[in-house]
Amino acid sequence: MKTNYNWGILGLGKIAKKFATDLQSVEGANLKAVASRSLKKAEEFAEDFHAENYYGSYAELTEDPEVDVIYIATPHVFHKELTITCLKAKKAVLCEKAFGINKTEVEEMISTAKTENVFLMEALWTHFVPHYQYILEIIQQKKYGEIKSLTADFGFKAPYDLDKRLFNKNLGGGSLLDIGIYPVFAAMTLIGIPQKIEASAKFSETKVDEECLMTFSYANNVKAHLKSTLLEKTPTECIIELEEATVKLTSRFHEPPSSIEITTKDGKKELIEFPVATLGYNYEAAHVQQMLSENKTESTVMTFENSLRLISLLDRVLEKIGLKY
Ligand SMILES: NC(=O)c1ccc[n+]([C@@H]2O[C@H](COP(=O)([O-])OP(=O)(O)OC[C@H]3O[C@@H](n4cnc5c(N)ncnc54)[C@H](OP(=O)(O)O)[C@@H]3O)[C@@H](O)[C@H]2O)c1
Repeated sequence: MKTNYNWGILGLGKIAKKFATDLQSVEGANLKAVASRSLKKAEEFAEDFHAENYYGSYAELTEDPEVDVIYIATPHVFHKELTITCLKAKKAVLCEKAFGINKTEVEEMISTAKTENVFLMEALWTHFVPHYQYILEIIQQKKYGEIKSLTADFGFKAPYDLDKRLFNKNLGGGSLLDIGIYPVFAAMTLIGIPQKIEASAKFSETKVDEECLMTFSYANNVKAHLKSTLLEKTPTECIIELEEATVKLTSRFHEPPSSIEITTKDGKKELIEFPVATLGYNYEAAHVQQMLSENKTESTVMTFENSLRLISLLDRVLEKIGLKY
């Protein structure tokens, strides 16, 4: 059974650095090659992270015969095209969120993975980190009864730099696809698909949502109140009101070292901590390797169905706020 994998990275920005840092802690993972639009940047990155090969174009890396699996870390708008190119070159793909900028793109990516019979997964890393695995388990087991409501936010003050992807519509900018995806993912995985979505947004001069407020409504009057914003730092917590307890994923809820605070109706408090020595990207990378070693072409955790459900929810919110990419 193959247990060692050669990784390549396309797009050497902020997240690529974090991912490359954590890849060093994954057993059997070797960062073989990196590619940037700038050869100099690729060379420096390769030196920092001990990658053997570096390229000044993405195409060269996709053709590197030594690379098994490619992590795509460019702005969202390039995910579809790059994913399809990699899959056609028979490279397994781990592609950053948002997977695509709409459902049609995600469907095309998945359909290509199926046709080429090559592994593809959305890098929704939260799904793999220990505290999130734990919360999913206690919610599924109904340890504290049914969920009555969920409140989740993600906000930070982003510098208003129109050259950077966050405010640039041509680069898929806006708060929802960048960070709102996490509260939406929390509602989707912990409650499910809402019957009704209400949403409103504040728009930047560049016509992207710099803030997005959402209410998801489910049967039995269950609600999820979700928020993403590039205008201010917010608690970035996820609070779940259940029949028998209030459960809080502490700040920042989507990443380690978030803890889980449980306050039961009789007033007892418990804090469960999940010490993690890395940034948390190693879990998704190790999962990809596990899937590859089992000759899987789809993740058993972040399945195609999960990615389709997630992008469909984002599409519904985008339609409500009137934003089309
Ligand atoms: N999972 C997470 O925790 C997490 C966190 C942050 C971001 N992300 C996701 O990761 C992706 C990248 O985010 P980031 O924060 O790393 O962005 P970033 O710092 O702007 O880096 C993106 C990289 O993409 C490449 N790129 C290719 N075409 C580009 C273009 N026309 N304009 C700008 N960059 C271009 C650039 O690499 P080269 O110059 O080397 O070609 C750039 O450095 C996004 O989809 C984002 O949603 C995920």
